[in-house]
Amino acid sequence: MAKPTLLFECSQCGAQSPKWAGRCFECSGWGTLVQTVSDGTPVNLPPMPSADATPFSEIQSTDIPRVPTGIGELDQVLGGGIVPGSLILIGGEPGIGKSTLLAQVALLLAQDKHRTLYASGEESGQQIKMRLDRLSTSKEDTQHILYVGETNTEKICASIIENKPLLAIVDSIQTVHSNDVLQEAGSISQVRASTMKLLEAAKKHHIPIIITGHVTKEGMVAGPKTLEHMVDTVLYLEGDNQYHFRLLKTVKNRFGSTNELGVFEMTEQGLREVTNPSDIFLSENTKDLPGSVTSVIMEGSRAFLVQVQALTSKTFFGYPQRRAVGFDTNRLQLLIAVLSKRLGLNLGDQDIHLNIVGGFKINEPAVDLAVCAAIISGYKNIALPRDHVVFGEVGLNGEVRPISHADRRLKEASKLGFTYAICPKASYSSPSITLQQIQTLKELEI
Ligand code: TYD
Ligand code: MG
Repeated sequence: MAKPTLLFECSQCGAQSPKWAGRCFECSGWGTLVQTVSDGTPVNLPPMPSADATPFSEIQSTDIPRVPTGIGELDQVLGGGIVPGSLILIGGEPGIGKSTLLAQVALLLAQDKHRTLYASGEESGQQIKMRLDRLSTSKEDTQHILYVGETNTEKICASIIENKPLLAIVDSIQTVHSNDVLQEAGSISQVRASTMKLLEAAKKHHIPIIITGHVTKEGMVAGPKTLEHMVDTVLYLEGDNQYHFRLLKTVKNRFGSTNELGVFEMTEQGLREVTNPSDIFLSENTKDLPGSVTSVIMEGSRAFLVQVQALTSKTFFGYPQRRAVGFDTNRLQLLIAVLSKRLGLNLGDQDIHLNIVGGFKINEPAVDLAVCAAIISGYKNIALPRDHVVFGEVGLNGEVRPISHADRRLKEASKLGFTYAICPKASYSSPSITLQQIQTLKELEI
């Protein structure tokens, strides 16, 4: 057997190098290369027999049966439920609610007397039991949930195969370790080797496995990012710690669309589905307020309403401040420049603060027009009527450009009682609200 050789591996992107360097040559991360040992497998293997090639016409196509989790928003994000034998990764920052969501799934399956195996290297059986007790309504349900307090991946796999649960949960992938790799749990090679083992077990025995992975604010230290290509489905649970809502997004799905989004609210009884997300992103004010404009955004295939607020005040010292919460500051600067140049607004001596109500982060250009309207409304101290919604992309010449899914946005707005929309000029199919279609910012009458 060949001698093990030294290798250096980037803990961020997994790139390997024979020499140490201060900076990763692949992802340019500083100080991310760590020493690893290659297993010394000989590279020159003897010739192998050829693999079988089958025409697709001879392969039977089958409908994929799915296991509904009982949580509508989660099923929607998964594309209709869990596919047996699939490996699902739920990523998110620590404390965002991954374990809570999975405990709820286990409890819902238990209500139908389905067995779930819960392997945790993070929490003790008592801790998980306390959570289950808090979340469940019936005490008998927990008899169908098996706890495995183990961090060895091979042992967890063996336990999954032996107990044949309907669903297995491994919380989290950073705490388990496989015998195949020498490094400590949480390192890139360990995370990869353990995922590989779980993938084998899931595929071979048709048991779906959900693994959780922590993503840190700074980046992806030994992060789930490196696993994305190995697993079937990748979901990310996101949210702002100061707000109670959580968004579950599909990043990759071999069994469904990636344009899905689930909205939850963290409550005393765990995560609660929010079926009408517009409610939580609209402030409850009933009066017309200067600087406050409602817009419609798309998250995946869902439209929901958000409120954009701008505050302008005279700069007393130095350069004017431009701050944005939930919106790209560079884009805000650009829109302010467009407003100054194309509408002749004197914003050069104004501090401008922009806020998206509810802590939502927007990165689509469709809110440009609403941001412009909010700034003008705030600057002139004239409110836009409360039943107006505004959306459209704004170009550098002050032109208002059409955007995608305009019909769906209008439908959502009208559903929530909005009667008037200021939007780009385009053809809309039978709009249910009055439209003011504009082509340039000049037509915006505030
Ligand atoms: P948790 O699921 O442990 O997060 P993760 O597994 O992603 O690290 O969730 C932790 C947070 O959720 C914690 O701050 C407490 C809160 N929480 C509730 O607000 N209500 C609940 O019913 C539960 C179980 C947790
Ligand atoms: Mg957890």
